[in-house]
Amino acid sequence: NKVVLAYSGGLDTSIILKWLQTTYGCEVITFTADLGQGEELEPARKKAELLGIKPENIFIEDLREEFVRDYVFPMFRANAVYEGVYLLGTSIARPLIAKKQIEIAERLGADAVCHGATGKGNDQVRFELGYYALKPDVTVIAPWREWDLKSREQLIAFAEQHQIPISKDKRGESPFSVDANLLHASSEGKVLEDPADEVPDYVYSRTLSPEEAPDTPTIITIGFEKGDAISIDGEALSPASLLARLNRLGHDNGIGRLDLVENRFVGMKSRGMYETPGGTILLPAHRAIESITLDRGAAHLKDQIMPQYAELIYNGFWFSPEREMLQALIDKSQEMVTGEVRLKLYKGGIHVIGRSSPNSLYDQDLVTFEEGAVAYDHRDAAGFIKLNALRLRTLAQRKKKLGA
Ligand code: ARG
Ligand code: SIN
Repeated sequence: NKVVLAYSGGLDTSIILKWLQTTYGCEVITFTADLGQGEELEPARKKAELLGIKPENIFIEDLREEFVRDYVFPMFRANAVYEGVYLLGTSIARPLIAKKQIEIAERLGADAVCHGATGKGNDQVRFELGYYALKPDVTVIAPWREWDLKSREQLIAFAEQHQIPISKDKRGESPFSVDANLLHASSEGKVLEDPADEVPDYVYSRTLSPEEAPDTPTIITIGFEKGDAISIDGEALSPASLLARLNRLGHDNGIGRLDLVENRFVGMKSRGMYETPGGTILLPAHRAIESITLDRGAAHLKDQIMPQYAELIYNGFWFSPEREMLQALIDKSQEMVTGEVRLKLYKGGIHVIGRSSPNSLYDQDLVTFEEGAVAYDHRDAAGFIKLNALRLRTLAQRKKKLGA
């Protein structure tokens, strides 16, 4: 029996690794992904070897380009935000990790997969819906729902008993839980649990505070092609390097902090702090290029479906027919979304200051207050308004008649 474990190399997933070996007596295959979390991956290999994993059972993959190209960018085409503000940085990464675990399981003939998400959160749902969608007969192991290592002391004792190296700072309870990738860093739990209390400064890792940001604005130009960002200041960049560049610009200008109480899929409210510097710049930039290249009907329709699309991603239904159907609609809308957007970044703020496109629908001749425009006859407006007012006048007449 073989199991593919989503392995970060950290203490918790190392404990899971040992627990799988000792509880299930199964052959463990580790999968460690670079999603841009900003940690070295080679230590994870060393650690896996140390814990008795055969070299041919250790998989380490750089998924940064695939993550941004096939997950983050398609999501940004929709301008997706959950509950009005959350840019879904954790939600969008889970399906990719699940997919890679299943690929490895298929290749090595493993029938089980395992993740380190708790039994209270969204991530367990996202991982497992992904697993089942791609391998319906898979066996899922979720140690946090199964084992009886109920306290930090028990976890540490288990680690010591099995010679798992524990770094000094991991002995005590960590002050909050972090999930990070190229799109965002998310912090939850412990010191952040009371939503009445302000997030302490030491929780932030990806952004300067707006107060510390430079007193002079940074002006940048983002180029778009068919809805995806392709360049910054005229320099063509791959998806991952573009997002990394935006992250740096966002960091320096104090952009992308969010303190949020959200509704988890499993039914509880949770408080989190998100830092999404690049994504927070990309969203209004994308909306700005859409503003001149999308027809009103197309723009409003995609805005209507956006909350549903975002909720599907939040709830873990990336690999579902309804998400794919909505994606097809969104992708279709992006055919003409090409051009450039100029932005001013200043002390936590993002200001669109210009947009242009070879496909622009903006017609200066049409809107100008000066005389011009043959396509628009002022006299047409009178009839247009009268017919639209017909219902309202009928209603007003009835109201008058009834003396209401
Ligand atoms: N609440 C966020 C989500 O459900 C982040 C979850 C993971 N974050 C963490 N710090 N463990 O997408
Ligand atoms: C976890 O519970 O593992 C992290 C938080 C979440 O999934 O919502």
